[in-house]
Amino acid sequence: MHVLVTGGAGFIGSNFIFHMLNKYPNYRIVCLDLLTYAGNLSTLKSVMNKENFRFVKGDIADREFIFNLFNKEKFDVVVNFAAESHVDRSILNPGLFLRTNIIGTQVLLDVCKEYNVARFHQVSTDEVYGDLPLDRPDLFFTEDTPINTSSPYSASKASADLLVQAYHRTFKLPVTISRCSNNYGPYHFPEKLIPLIISRALNDEALPVYGTGENVRDWLYVEDHCTAIDEIIHNGKIGEVYNVGGHNEKTNLEVVKTILKELEKPESLISFVNDRVGHDMRYAIDPTKIKNELNWEPTTKFDDGIKQTVKWYLDNKSWWERIINGDYQNYYQEMYGDR
Ligand code: NAD
Ligand code: DAU
Repeated sequence: MHVLVTGGAGFIGSNFIFHMLNKYPNYRIVCLDLLTYAGNLSTLKSVMNKENFRFVKGDIADREFIFNLFNKEKFDVVVNFAAESHVDRSILNPGLFLRTNIIGTQVLLDVCKEYNVARFHQVSTDEVYGDLPLDRPDLFFTEDTPINTSSPYSASKASADLLVQAYHRTFKLPVTISRCSNNYGPYHFPEKLIPLIISRALNDEALPVYGTGENVRDWLYVEDHCTAIDEIIHNGKIGEVYNVGGHNEKTNLEVVKTILKELEKPESLISFVNDRVGHDMRYAIDPTKIKNELNWEPTTKFDDGIKQTVKWYLDNKSWWERIINGDYQNYYQEMYGDR
């Protein structure tokens, strides 16, 4: 099998490439990534010399480039991770999110249609469902929950999902979609809550918690997301959406305090800052469909996953220190300076 993984130099895409190369040594994997601020070639260092792996630098929204690539190489499966993925950045610059997440997906759909790719898998997010109220813990997102987006990021991901479904209905393109909850684990870019808190706590810096810290996210260890996508591309039903999550709901404050405890750092580092505008209150996935149809279940509990993640950041300081010492400093100032 010949698999194209877009966005594979980012957090989840790189973990997916490691998972696939490890589990399917006979597959050929090509990673296509633009290496934006979020893409990091050093993440892929350990697989760069493998004979069945190749890295290609390129933009999913560059139609000519993408059609040329498919003209030269025949892919059986395309897994689209490539995206602008940070909600806060989408508030600063919505246009970039529309270009990459919507137009980029459309270019990939067109090329898959032209070259009869056997499966296009779209890596989507639970954020397309909007949010749930804190006082209704009985409510969960199912695949039938209406799309109801809050941020330019989630609106762009929802638009891409609608296009994927339209290409299936109109052109019979063989597609699947996964909508996953918040991931955490190795190679998570330090602008996102968990790696941001770990890296700043290690440097004894103030830890920005938005609003009151009561917002709830449903955390999934990244390897569990990778096994879910693996299962969907091999055994999922064409045209279907699968929610991916594992009932690991935590408030942001709980997450931050767990990390501080693990690092033996004081809670006095916590600094409540102005809330994210349009901030979603609670995400919570109902994973019944993927469990019943594909027998998928997460294997890592949050208590174990967060310990492994903290250890990874302690053992791989050079990976994230290079990031936070670069352009990231300007980003941090712009995002948090006046908060
Ligand atoms: P990330 O920001 O870490 O990585 C995104 C990757 O895409 C980067 O390597 C970047 O260089 C690449 N990229 C960006 N624009 C590109 C373009 N135009 N062409 C080619 N490559 C481009 O993101 P992530 O957290 O790994 O998320 C991956 C996917 O999973 C995204 O589609 C995201 O919406 C989705 N998702 C993320 C989470 C999460 O918790 N992180 C949860 C559910 C779904
Ligand atoms: O639910 C899936 C989504 O999870 C993915 O689709 C997105 O790509 C991914 O970035 C993530 O979105 P969130 O907005 O939930 O993740 P983030 O890590 O940015 O924030 C998690 C929570 O922590 C959220 O409630 C905002 C809060 N937060 C975040 C940052 C960066 C803070 O309190 N302080 C911070 O500094």
